Amino acid sequence: MTTREALACELTEARDRTLRLVAFDDAELRRQYDPLMSPLVWDLAHIGQQEELWLLRGGNPDRPGLLPPQVDQLYDAFVHSRASRADLPLLPPTDARNYCATVRGKVLDALDALPDGHPDAFTFGLVVSHENQHDETMLQALSLRSGAPLLDRGTSLPPGRPQTAGTSVRVPAGEFVLGVDAVTEPYSLDNERPAHVVDVPAFRIGRVPVTNAEWRQFVDDGGYHRRQWWSDAGWAHRRQAGLTAPLYWNGDGSRTRFGYVEEIPGEEPVQHVTYYEAEAYAAWAGARLPTEVEWEKACAWDPETNSRRRYPWGATEPTAEVANLGGRALRPAPVGAYPQSASAYGAEQMLGDVWEWTSSPLRPWPGFTPMVYERYSQPFFDGTGTGEYRVLRGGSWAVAPNILRPSFRNWDHPIRRQIFSGVRLAWDDVGAPPACGGPLTRRVDGYV
Ligand SMILES: [Fe+2]
Repeated sequence: MTTREALACELTEARDRTLRLVAFDDAELRRQYDPLMSPLVWDLAHIGQQEELWLLRGGNPDRPGLLPPQVDQLYDAFVHSRASRADLPLLPPTDARNYCATVRGKVLDALDALPDGHPDAFTFGLVVSHENQHDETMLQALSLRSGAPLLDRGTSLPPGRPQTAGTSVRVPAGEFVLGVDAVTEPYSLDNERPAHVVDVPAFRIGRVPVTNAEWRQFVDDGGYHRRQWWSDAGWAHRRQAGLTAPLYWNGDGSRTRFGYVEEIPGEEPVQHVTYYEAEAYAAWAGARLPTEVEWEKACAWDPETNSRRRYPWGATEPTAEVANLGGRALRPAPVGAYPQSASAYGAEQMLGDVWEWTSSPLRPWPGFTPMVYERYSQPFFDGTGTGEYRVLRGGSWAVAPNILRPSFRNWDHPIRRQIFSGVRLAWDDVGAPPACGGPLTRRVDGYV
């Protein structure tokens, strides 16, 4: 398949997915389920507007497009906050669909005319990534929606290996290559580049993410009410927001999401926790959160070959046998579901299932150069004044497999939890099982 054919295929797949997530009536698409999220019809037209901007207008908003300027600007995410978008004079759903279809027709013509090896192929890949990222955002919105379910329950997932919960793997000290370059990952985004060598002290990291059953112990142990586990900022937020459990957990052992009430599955990775909750849980468990550098090493480095693997398991593209991606499952897979997904160090489920909070603020790698969409990463870097962010790694069940890489960096405010966010623990390597005096001393059992 040529690059052009592959991009056309990916654009079509992304659009099919988008259209499935807006296959509802007009009133539904205009509803704002939560001030944190846009009405679905905004996401829909924004997907088309960004596609037109980057692929048909050369990234120049002053260049005339298909929409009148006063309509076009409604879809600038930097101008209109999510909370305000329901009150904007948005394109009606039918117009938004037609607009997206018109843009897509022109974009496919432009792709057809793209010479082999042309650098604009990157921008097409960026647009594929953007649309898929919004599809995940729309799933976050639909998860928050109250009322009878709109989506089906999701596809089935492989069974887990519950014995993997609470165990860890060791990553010895040493240098590795952090980040990627255009040569090996042509569609990598600016904040993933350039590849560079870093030295990382030895550490341990969870073999799998923290489960709901483990989190339940934290709740039952009064973890949400004990100041000692929380940072100052975390405690202040916990109190102010009244957090007592992950989002969507009900008080009776059930949870409600996407309109379904179900028993909380104990073996499933916990999701919908803030960075502050993740940090408190880790402290309670006698652990800490990994840095994103540690996370990437555990995911991608192969000490045998002294090189990066393209994916944790090797070179082959993600399939349903190694990762829960793509959004069809509507949930994370139980821990241990993908033994074949193990990285060189033995960490499993690094890609898919839940985004994993790291302790790292978003910072540029040395030698960072902004890409064509200059405001993708740069305004969010630590110290730029747009607020505090923490990096999440690994993608969730809702991420499209073709846009995810071990180097992919996501970020959000530490108070956010409508995202599909979970936790993987880490420990300093002390050469022997730690004298962990915390409530989860049983974690030490897995410390091998
Ligand atoms: Fe966007």
